[in-house]
Amino acid sequence: MSKVSLTVNGKAVTAEVEDRTLLVHLLRDHLNLTGTHVGCDTSQCGACVVHIDGRAVKSCTTLVGQVDGATVTTIEGISRGDELHPMQAAFRDNHGLQCGYCTPGMIMSAIDIVNRHGSDLDEHTLRQELEGNICRCTGYHNIVKSVLDAASRMKLAQAAE
Ligand code: FES
Ligand code: FES
Repeated sequence: MSKVSLTVNGKAVTAEVEDRTLLVHLLRDHLNLTGTHVGCDTSQCGACVVHIDGRAVKSCTTLVGQVDGATVTTIEGISRGDELHPMQAAFRDNHGLQCGYCTPGMIMSAIDIVNRHGSDLDEHTLRQELEGNICRCTGYHNIVKSVLDAASRMKLAQAAE
């Protein structure tokens, strides 16, 4: 067993876990943050993506011991109260989801992609960067539209701050 301390969605969390405990299980089973999904358990689908210290990471292949002291953000932590994150709003407005199973991971990956590329993000780069997120429903076109729309919204939101 190991004791770990981390920050999850702005709150300090301390947990005593078995050394083999995966971050996705800490989030879902211990913290009840079930917006982070498990689609494959083998690092293929991206349904489990969260941010660790601001970067998108697959939580199904991250041990809790690796995030001791880190700041973790899940899909539950990106809105401001009732106000959706611009990426969430863009997915809603562009029909970027159907069943929604992939959507939390897709959104967390997409925010990281936009943060890294900013207004330089083009469709080709975006499609390449989303390679680690699988969607069985949408055919990806509306996801790509959503992320490119969100990139503009995030730029405007930053300019307004
Ligand atoms: Fe983590 Fe599929 S559940 S990549
Ligand atoms: Fe159903 Fe992507 S919306 S898996």
